[in-house]
Amino acid sequence: MNILLLGSGGRENALAWKIAQSAKVKNLYIAPGNAGACSIAKNVDLPITDFPAVKRFILDNNVNMVVVGPEEPLVKGIYDYLANGSDTKNIPVIGPSKEGARLEGSKDFAKQFMMRHNIPTARYKSFTLDRLEDAYCFLEELEAPYVLKADGLAAGKGVLILNSLSEAKKELKKMLGGMFGDAGKTVVIEEFLSGMECSVFVLTDGNSYKILPVAKDYKRIGEGDTGLNTGGMGAVSPVSFAGDAFMKKVEERIVIPTIRGLKEENIIYKGFIFLGLIEVKGEPLVIEYNVRMGDPETEVVMLRIKSDLVALLEGVANQTLSKAALETDDRYAVTVMLVSGGYPGGYEKNKEITGLDSVTDSILFHAGTKLSDNKVLTVGGRVIAISSYGDTKDEALAKSYKNAEKVNFDKKYYRKDIGFDLK
Ligand code: AMP
Ligand code: GLY
Repeated sequence: MNILLLGSGGRENALAWKIAQSAKVKNLYIAPGNAGACSIAKNVDLPITDFPAVKRFILDNNVNMVVVGPEEPLVKGIYDYLANGSDTKNIPVIGPSKEGARLEGSKDFAKQFMMRHNIPTARYKSFTLDRLEDAYCFLEELEAPYVLKADGLAAGKGVLILNSLSEAKKELKKMLGGMFGDAGKTVVIEEFLSGMECSVFVLTDGNSYKILPVAKDYKRIGEGDTGLNTGGMGAVSPVSFAGDAFMKKVEERIVIPTIRGLKEENIIYKGFIFLGLIEVKGEPLVIEYNVRMGDPETEVVMLRIKSDLVALLEGVANQTLSKAALETDDRYAVTVMLVSGGYPGGYEKNKEITGLDSVTDSILFHAGTKLSDNKVLTVGGRVIAISSYGDTKDEALAKSYKNAEKVNFDKKYYRKDIGFDLK
């Protein structure tokens, strides 16, 4: 079959790596892709939110399945666009309908969904500008730190955690006043939860589900989880605190009610669900839903799936997922992200990357690269994820760190303490 994968980051490279291993795949197209995908897939220069262009490509190239990497096309309704096209309605899209994508596209919708289905999450209330005084009163009921979330997509910057009440009020007013544009017209204010976070990925066909290997990502730029938030500096799977007892609670209290809730509400959802969880005194609570795989978690989760991913995705498309096998690899998988110096602030681009061919014992997933005159250049803040297996976390990390020294570009930076807080 021919598969079109939408996206261009490390996540999509890891998905492409896994998809390309399937004997079921004839052609794998990745739009727009990057320098890393070239050897396993054909890069296609397509703007992925230009749905008519995506549709033309699908029809011209006999694409049999579309796998959506990032949230934006999903939130904008690519599922519905293709499902409603007379000539594309039989081409499965791995990802939720526009309504289902609201679990990520609207934090208020996600919170209301969790309330309706009794899914554990932080206490909250949502406000718009006309209720600023009520919002201040709610903040006063809570204790520091204060968590403010722009309702809509805000490029990963829509969550603010403030230490003082006066700061929280000031930022709330700015958010409601348009700091994040329309995304912040509604703000979710919620109770701060303290605990370890992890990412649980569920693949569903709308009826049944498979829980994929659990991972933990490291979002801050600095060692010891300090400094600014990034798109992710590394990840580890499995996660020591998310053992069988914890995962049983996750399945019973979160996964099952989520799938059942979507079904009860007639929300079409055939794709990945990403549960951003926090463990508070042994109990899992949902911090957020995402409607796609995580980045850089995918760069470890794909390593730990032994089964044919395309067979699983076919199960999603045909609603026969319960019959598909999910076999996982018991080994550890880790990834370490090489980033451009200065990121997540300003950074320089078009630096030549050398040493890629000298890497052994690791798998390289390109995040922000491009090919130019046979050279691989940096084009993003996050540049390359170096993923490795090991019988222990430390063994896997040692391989990634050895290779992190070999891959070079001007002003390269990476965290040397990925997994530091896990056993
Ligand atoms: P994101 O939505 O990925 O930008 O995430 C925001 C981050 O903010 C999460 O990964 C958590 O670390 C943190 N966060 C969000 N909600 C809460 C909460 N209620 N309590 C504590 N931390 C939170
Ligand atoms: N790693 C978090 C995310 O993909 O949003």
